[in-house]
Amino acid sequence: MTYARILGTGGFLPRRVVTNAELARTVDTSDEWIVSRTGIRERRIVASDETSCDLAERAARQALEAAGCLAADIDLVIVATTTPDRVFPSTACLLQDRLGIHGPAAFDVQAVCTGFIYAISIAEKFIKTGSAKRALVVGTETMSRLVNWQDRSTCVLFGDGAGAVILGASAEPGILSAHLHADGAYKDLLTVTEDGADGTDRVLAAASGHIAMRGNEVFRVAVTTLDALVGETLAANGLNQSDIRWLVPHQANIRIISATAKRLGMSMEQVIVTVDRHGNTSGASIPLALDVAVRDGRIQRGDVVLMEGFGGGFTWGSVLFTY
Ligand code: UT7
Repeated sequence: MTYARILGTGGFLPRRVVTNAELARTVDTSDEWIVSRTGIRERRIVASDETSCDLAERAARQALEAAGCLAADIDLVIVATTTPDRVFPSTACLLQDRLGIHGPAAFDVQAVCTGFIYAISIAEKFIKTGSAKRALVVGTETMSRLVNWQDRSTCVLFGDGAGAVILGASAEPGILSAHLHADGAYKDLLTVTEDGADGTDRVLAAASGHIAMRGNEVFRVAVTTLDALVGETLAANGLNQSDIRWLVPHQANIRIISATAKRLGMSMEQVIVTVDRHGNTSGASIPLALDVAVRDGRIQRGDVVLMEGFGGGFTWGSVLFTY
Protein backbone atom coordinates (compact mmCIF):
# COMPACT_ATOMS: atom_id res chain seq x y z
CA MET A 1 0.00 0.00 0.00
CA THR A 2 1.25 3.49 -0.86
CA TYR A 3 0.91 6.21 1.74
CA ALA A 4 1.48 9.93 1.41
CA ARG A 5 3.97 10.84 4.10
CA ILE A 6 5.15 14.24 5.28
CA LEU A 7 8.86 14.33 4.41
CA GLY A 8 9.60 17.86 5.58
CA THR A 9 7.98 21.08 6.75
CA GLY A 10 8.73 24.80 6.42
CA GLY A 11 7.34 28.08 7.62
CA PHE A 12 7.84 31.78 7.14
CA LEU A 13 6.52 34.87 8.91
CA PRO A 14 6.96 38.47 7.78
CA ARG A 15 9.33 40.51 9.89
CA ARG A 16 6.92 43.15 11.22
CA VAL A 17 5.28 42.34 14.59
CA VAL A 18 2.05 44.18 15.41
CA THR A 19 1.11 43.93 19.08
CA ASN A 20 -2.32 44.37 20.63
CA ALA A 21 -1.07 47.57 22.24
CA GLU A 22 -0.23 48.96 18.80
CA LEU A 23 -3.76 48.19 17.53
CA ALA A 24 -5.27 49.79 20.64
CA ARG A 25 -3.71 53.06 19.50
CA THR A 26 -5.82 53.09 16.30
CA VAL A 27 -9.09 51.30 17.20
CA ASP A 28 -11.22 51.13 20.35
CA THR A 29 -9.85 47.89 21.78
CA SER A 30 -7.47 46.66 24.48
CA ASP A 31 -4.88 43.97 25.03
CA GLU A 32 -7.12 42.58 27.77
CA TRP A 33 -10.15 42.22 25.43
CA ILE A 34 -8.15 40.63 22.60
CA VAL A 35 -6.27 38.17 24.84
CA SER A 36 -9.30 37.10 26.84
CA ARG A 37 -11.63 36.70 23.81
CA THR A 38 -9.13 35.23 21.30
CA GLY A 39 -5.78 34.36 22.93
CA ILE A 40 -3.98 36.59 20.40
CA ARG A 41 -1.12 38.77 21.69
CA GLU A 42 0.57 39.73 18.43
CA ARG A 43 0.55 38.99 14.71
CA ARG A 44 2.92 39.47 11.77
CA ILE A 45 2.08 41.81 8.91
CA VAL A 46 3.71 41.93 5.46
CA ALA A 47 5.65 44.89 4.12
CA SER A 48 3.93 46.91 1.39
CA ASP A 49 5.92 45.16 -1.35
CA GLU A 50 5.64 41.63 0.10
CA THR A 51 3.11 39.16 -1.37
CA SER A 52 1.64 35.75 -0.58
CA CYS A 53 4.01 34.21 -3.15
CA ASP A 54 7.02 35.80 -1.42
CA LEU A 55 6.01 34.15 1.87
CA ALA A 56 5.22 30.86 0.11
CA GLU A 57 8.64 30.76 -1.55
CA ARG A 58 10.47 31.10 1.77
CA ALA A 59 8.34 28.41 3.44
CA ALA A 60 8.65 26.09 0.41
CA ARG A 61 12.44 26.37 0.26
CA GLN A 62 12.64 25.51 3.95
CA ALA A 63 10.35 22.49 3.49
CA LEU A 64 12.43 21.26 0.54
CA GLU A 65 15.57 21.51 2.64
CA ALA A 66 13.95 19.70 5.58
CA ALA A 67 12.77 16.91 3.26
CA GLY A 68 16.19 16.61 1.62
CA CYS A 69 14.52 17.23 -1.75
CA LEU A 70 15.44 19.29 -4.76
CA ALA A 71 12.85 21.45 -6.49
CA ALA A 72 13.41 19.20 -9.52
CA ASP A 73 12.01 16.25 -7.50
CA ILE A 74 8.60 17.95 -7.11
CA ASP A 75 5.92 16.71 -9.50
CA LEU A 76 2.89 18.54 -8.03
CA VAL A 77 2.46 22.02 -6.53
CA ILE A 78 -0.70 22.98 -4.63
CA VAL A 79 -1.09 26.33 -2.91
CA ALA A 80 -3.92 27.06 -0.51
CA THR A 81 -4.58 30.79 -0.47
CA THR A 82 -7.44 33.25 -0.21
CA THR A 83 -5.11 36.14 -0.93
CA PRO A 84 -3.39 35.28 -4.23
CA ASP A 85 -0.90 37.71 -5.79
CA ARG A 86 -3.02 37.87 -8.95
CA VAL A 87 -6.49 36.70 -9.98
CA PHE A 88 -4.49 34.63 -12.45
CA PRO A 89 -2.01 33.01 -12.97
CA SER A 90 -2.42 31.03 -9.77
CA THR A 91 -0.01 31.58 -6.91
CA ALA A 92 1.03 27.94 -7.44
CA CYS A 93 2.22 28.80 -10.96
CA LEU A 94 4.05 31.90 -9.69
CA LEU A 95 5.68 29.80 -6.96
CA GLN A 96 6.57 27.04 -9.38
CA ASP A 97 8.39 29.56 -11.56
CA ARG A 98 10.28 31.02 -8.57
CA LEU A 99 11.44 27.53 -7.62
CA GLY A 100 12.45 26.63 -11.17
CA ILE A 101 9.95 23.78 -11.47
CA HIS A 102 8.70 23.50 -15.05
CA GLY A 103 6.02 21.14 -16.30
CA PRO A 104 4.24 19.43 -13.39
CA ALA A 105 0.68 20.37 -12.42
CA ALA A 106 0.33 23.47 -10.25
CA PHE A 107 -2.89 24.99 -8.96
CA ASP A 108 -4.43 26.96 -6.11
CA VAL A 109 -7.11 25.80 -3.72
CA GLN A 110 -9.47 28.32 -2.17
CA ALA A 111 -11.19 27.04 0.95
CA VAL A 112 -10.18 29.94 3.22
CA CYS A 113 -9.08 28.71 6.68
CA THR A 114 -9.60 25.07 5.65
CA GLY A 115 -7.55 25.58 2.49
CA PHE A 116 -4.47 23.70 3.65
CA ILE A 117 -6.56 20.70 4.78
CA TYR A 118 -8.20 20.64 1.33
CA ALA A 119 -4.83 21.04 -0.42
CA ILE A 120 -2.99 18.32 1.47
CA SER A 121 -5.85 15.86 1.06
CA ILE A 122 -5.91 16.50 -2.71
CA ALA A 123 -2.14 15.94 -2.85
CA GLU A 124 -2.57 12.73 -0.88
CA LYS A 125 -4.98 11.44 -3.53
CA PHE A 126 -2.52 12.21 -6.33
CA ILE A 127 0.17 10.29 -4.45
CA LYS A 128 -1.99 7.33 -3.49
CA THR A 129 -3.16 6.86 -7.07
CA GLY A 130 0.39 7.10 -8.42
CA SER A 131 -0.22 10.41 -10.23
CA ALA A 132 2.51 12.14 -8.20
CA LYS A 133 5.47 11.05 -6.12
CA ARG A 134 6.54 14.24 -4.38
CA ALA A 135 4.13 17.10 -3.79
CA LEU A 136 4.79 20.59 -2.47
CA VAL A 137 1.75 21.79 -0.52
CA VAL A 138 1.72 25.36 0.77
CA GLY A 139 -0.69 27.51 2.78
CA THR A 140 0.11 31.19 2.34
CA GLU A 141 -1.85 34.30 3.22
CA THR A 142 -1.64 38.06 3.38
CA MET A 143 -4.91 38.51 5.27
CA SER A 144 -3.80 42.01 6.30
CA ARG A 145 -4.77 43.11 2.76
CA LEU A 146 -8.38 42.00 3.31
CA VAL A 147 -8.75 43.56 6.74
CA ASN A 148 -10.53 46.83 7.36
CA TRP A 149 -8.08 48.37 9.82
CA GLN A 150 -10.87 50.57 11.20
CA ASP A 151 -13.08 47.56 12.10
CA ARG A 152 -12.10 46.45 15.61
CA SER A 153 -14.23 43.31 15.39
CA THR A 154 -12.00 41.82 12.67
CA CYS A 155 -8.72 43.75 12.45
CA VAL A 156 -7.42 42.35 15.74
CA LEU A 157 -7.87 38.76 14.56
CA PHE A 158 -5.79 38.22 11.44
CA GLY A 159 -2.12 37.92 10.51
CA ASP A 160 0.12 37.00 7.57
CA GLY A 161 2.40 34.01 7.03
CA ALA A 162 3.08 30.80 5.11
CA GLY A 163 3.63 27.14 5.93
CA ALA A 164 4.63 24.29 3.63
CA VAL A 165 5.04 20.54 3.55
CA ILE A 166 6.63 18.10 1.14
CA LEU A 167 4.47 15.03 0.79
CA GLY A 168 6.07 11.89 -0.64
CA ALA A 169 5.01 8.38 -1.64
CA SER A 170 6.02 5.89 1.03
CA ALA A 171 5.39 2.30 2.08
CA GLU A 172 5.35 3.52 5.70
CA PRO A 173 2.14 5.04 7.12
CA GLY A 174 1.63 8.75 6.55
CA ILE A 175 -1.81 10.25 6.02
CA LEU A 176 -4.37 7.85 7.49
CA SER A 177 -7.56 9.66 6.51
CA ALA A 178 -8.88 13.00 5.32
CA HIS A 179 -12.38 14.39 5.81
CA LEU A 180 -13.57 17.40 3.83
CA HIS A 181 -16.85 19.27 4.16
CA ALA A 182 -18.53 22.49 3.04
CA ASP A 183 -21.90 24.17 3.38
CA GLY A 184 -22.47 27.29 1.32
CA ALA A 185 -25.67 28.05 3.24
CA TYR A 186 -23.34 29.85 5.67
CA LYS A 187 -21.80 32.04 2.95
CA ASP A 188 -22.82 35.34 4.53
CA LEU A 189 -21.54 34.77 8.08
CA LEU A 190 -17.91 35.13 7.04
CA THR A 191 -17.19 36.77 3.72
CA VAL A 192 -15.46 39.57 1.86
CA THR A 193 -17.65 42.50 0.88
CA GLU A 194 -17.00 45.81 -0.75
CA ASP A 195 -17.48 47.83 2.41
CA GLY A 196 -17.01 45.21 5.11
CA ALA A 197 -20.62 45.52 6.25
CA ASP A 198 -23.12 42.71 6.61
CA GLY A 199 -25.31 42.30 3.55
CA THR A 200 -23.58 40.90 0.55
CA ASP A 201 -25.19 42.39 -2.53
CA ARG A 202 -21.80 43.06 -4.02
CA VAL A 203 -19.26 40.46 -3.11
CA LEU A 204 -15.93 41.03 -4.76
CA ALA A 205 -14.19 38.39 -6.82
CA ALA A 206 -10.57 39.36 -6.25
CA ALA A 207 -8.43 40.27 -3.28
CA SER A 208 -10.00 43.64 -2.63
CA GLY A 209 -12.79 44.59 -0.25
CA HIS A 210 -12.90 43.74 3.42
CA ILE A 211 -13.59 40.82 5.69
CA ALA A 212 -17.04 40.88 7.26
CA MET A 213 -17.77 38.36 9.98
CA ARG A 214 -20.66 37.67 12.32
CA GLY A 215 -18.09 36.44 14.82
CA ASN A 216 -20.32 35.12 17.54
CA GLU A 217 -22.42 33.03 15.14
CA VAL A 218 -19.27 31.72 13.42
CA PHE A 219 -17.87 30.80 16.81
CA ARG A 220 -20.89 28.73 17.79
CA VAL A 221 -21.07 26.82 14.50
CA ALA A 222 -17.29 26.26 14.57
CA VAL A 223 -17.32 24.63 18.00
CA THR A 224 -20.18 22.21 17.27
CA THR A 225 -18.94 21.42 13.76
CA LEU A 226 -15.39 20.67 14.92
CA ASP A 227 -16.79 18.51 17.69
CA ALA A 228 -18.61 16.36 15.11
CA LEU A 229 -15.58 16.36 12.79
CA VAL A 230 -13.31 14.99 15.50
CA GLY A 231 -15.83 12.22 16.20
CA GLU A 232 -16.05 11.41 12.49
CA THR A 233 -12.24 11.21 12.15
CA LEU A 234 -11.80 8.94 15.16
CA ALA A 235 -14.64 6.64 14.07
CA ALA A 236 -13.31 6.36 10.50
CA ASN A 237 -10.00 5.10 11.86
CA GLY A 238 -11.38 2.98 14.70
CA LEU A 239 -9.35 5.07 17.15
CA ASN A 240 -9.96 6.34 20.66
CA GLN A 241 -9.19 9.85 21.87
CA SER A 242 -6.08 8.56 23.65
CA ASP A 243 -4.58 7.31 20.35
CA ILE A 244 -4.00 10.90 19.20
CA ARG A 245 -0.68 12.29 20.37
CA TRP A 246 -0.95 15.85 19.00
CA LEU A 247 -3.67 18.22 17.86
CA VAL A 248 -2.64 20.81 15.26
CA PRO A 249 -5.77 22.96 14.94
CA HIS A 250 -6.57 25.96 12.80
CA GLN A 251 -5.55 28.96 14.86
CA ALA A 252 -8.57 31.27 14.98
CA ASN A 253 -9.37 31.52 18.66
CA ILE A 254 -7.89 29.82 21.73
CA ARG A 255 -11.41 29.23 23.07
CA ILE A 256 -12.35 27.19 19.96
CA ILE A 257 -9.05 25.30 20.17
CA SER A 258 -9.62 24.50 23.87
CA ALA A 259 -13.13 23.21 23.16
CA THR A 260 -11.76 20.78 20.54
CA ALA A 261 -8.97 19.65 22.89
CA LYS A 262 -11.58 19.01 25.57
CA ARG A 263 -13.64 16.95 23.12
CA LEU A 264 -10.51 14.83 22.53
CA GLY A 265 -9.80 14.55 26.26
CA MET A 266 -6.44 16.19 25.59
CA SER A 267 -4.48 18.46 27.87
CA MET A 268 -3.35 21.74 26.30
CA GLU A 269 0.23 20.36 26.41
CA GLN A 270 -0.80 18.11 23.52
CA VAL A 271 -2.12 20.99 21.45
CA ILE A 272 0.07 23.08 19.18
CA VAL A 273 -0.88 26.70 19.80
CA THR A 274 0.50 29.59 17.76
CA VAL A 275 -2.54 31.87 17.74
CA ASP A 276 -0.95 33.96 20.51
CA ARG A 277 1.98 34.93 18.25
CA HIS A 278 0.58 34.51 14.74
CA GLY A 279 -3.09 35.48 15.05
CA ASN A 280 -5.37 33.89 12.48
CA THR A 281 -3.33 33.36 9.29
CA SER A 282 -6.24 31.53 7.60
CA GLY A 283 -4.93 28.85 5.21
CA ALA A 284 -1.39 29.25 6.53
CA SER A 285 -2.18 28.64 10.17
CA ILE A 286 -2.15 24.83 10.25
CA PRO A 287 1.09 24.24 8.29
CA LEU A 288 2.76 27.05 10.24
CA ALA A 289 1.79 25.46 13.56
CA LEU A 290 2.89 22.05 12.30
CA ASP A 291 6.27 23.43 11.28
CA VAL A 292 6.77 25.10 14.66
CA ALA A 293 6.12 21.83 16.51
CA VAL A 294 8.27 19.72 14.19
CA ARG A 295 11.17 22.17 14.46
CA ASP A 296 11.00 22.48 18.25
CA GLY A 297 10.98 18.68 18.53
CA ARG A 298 7.53 18.17 20.01
CA ILE A 299 6.18 16.21 17.04
CA GLN A 300 8.37 13.16 16.49
CA ARG A 301 8.41 10.47 13.81
CA GLY A 302 5.72 7.88 14.56
CA ASP A 303 3.43 10.28 16.43
CA VAL A 304 -0.24 10.26 15.44
CA VAL A 305 -1.34 13.82 14.69
CA LEU A 306 -4.76 15.33 14.01
CA MET A 307 -5.01 18.53 11.98
CA GLU A 308 -8.38 20.26 11.70
CA GLY A 309 -9.72 23.47 10.26
CA PHE A 310 -12.88 25.53 9.91
CA GLY A 311 -13.49 28.67 7.91
CA GLY A 312 -15.38 30.73 5.38
CA GLY A 313 -17.81 28.90 3.14
CA PHE A 314 -18.31 27.37 5.58
CA THR A 315 -15.63 24.80 4.90
CA TRP A 316 -14.21 22.37 7.41
CA GLY A 317 -12.02 19.32 7.41
CA SER A 318 -9.47 17.15 9.14
CA VAL A 319 -6.41 15.11 8.28
CA LEU A 320 -5.14 12.35 10.55
CA PHE A 321 -1.58 11.22 9.94
CA THR A 322 1.38 9.42 11.37
CA TYR A 323 4.35 11.77 11.21
O1 UT7 B 1 -10.91 31.48 11.01
C1 UT7 B 1 -12.17 31.27 10.47
C2 UT7 B 1 -13.21 31.09 11.47
N1 UT7 B 1 -13.30 32.23 12.35
C3 UT7 B 1 -13.55 32.02 13.61
O2 UT7 B 1 -13.61 30.88 14.01
C4 UT7 B 1 -13.80 33.19 14.50
C5 UT7 B 1 -14.95 32.86 15.40
N2 UT7 B 1 -15.36 33.95 16.26
C6 UT7 B 1 -14.60 34.41 17.29
O3 UT7 B 1 -13.47 34.02 17.45
C7 UT7 B 1 -15.24 35.37 18.27
O4 UT7 B 1 -16.61 35.43 18.02
C8 UT7 B 1 -14.64 36.81 18.21
C9 UT7 B 1 -13.25 36.80 18.81
C10 UT7 B 1 -14.59 37.29 16.78
C11 UT7 B 1 -15.51 37.75 19.03
O5 UT7 B 1 -15.63 37.27 20.37
P1 UT7 B 1 -17.07 37.19 21.06
O6 UT7 B 1 -16.84 36.74 22.44
O7 UT7 B 1 -17.94 36.33 20.18
O8 UT7 B 1 -17.52 38.69 21.09
P2 UT7 B 1 -18.80 39.37 20.40
O9 UT7 B 1 -18.64 39.40 18.91
O10 UT7 B 1 -20.04 38.76 20.95
O11 UT7 B 1 -18.66 40.85 20.95
C12 UT7 B 1 -18.76 41.14 22.34
C13 UT7 B 1 -18.54 42.60 22.54
C14 UT7 B 1 -19.39 43.49 21.63
O12 UT7 B 1 -19.79 44.61 22.38
P3 UT7 B 1 -21.28 44.69 23.00
O13 UT7 B 1 -22.22 44.59 21.83
O14 UT7 B 1 -21.37 43.49 23.93
O15 UT7 B 1 -21.28 45.99 23.69
C15 UT7 B 1 -18.41 43.94 20.56
O16 UT7 B 1 -18.76 45.17 19.98
O17 UT7 B 1 -17.17 42.95 22.27
C16 UT7 B 1 -17.14 44.06 21.36
N3 UT7 B 1 -15.92 43.96 20.57
C17 UT7 B 1 -14.75 44.45 20.98
N4 UT7 B 1 -14.38 45.11 22.09
C18 UT7 B 1 -13.08 45.45 22.22
C19 UT7 B 1 -15.77 43.37 19.36
N5 UT7 B 1 -14.49 43.48 18.96
C20 UT7 B 1 -13.83 44.14 19.95
C21 UT7 B 1 -12.49 44.53 20.13
N6 UT7 B 1 -12.16 45.18 21.28
N7 UT7 B 1 -11.53 44.26 19.23
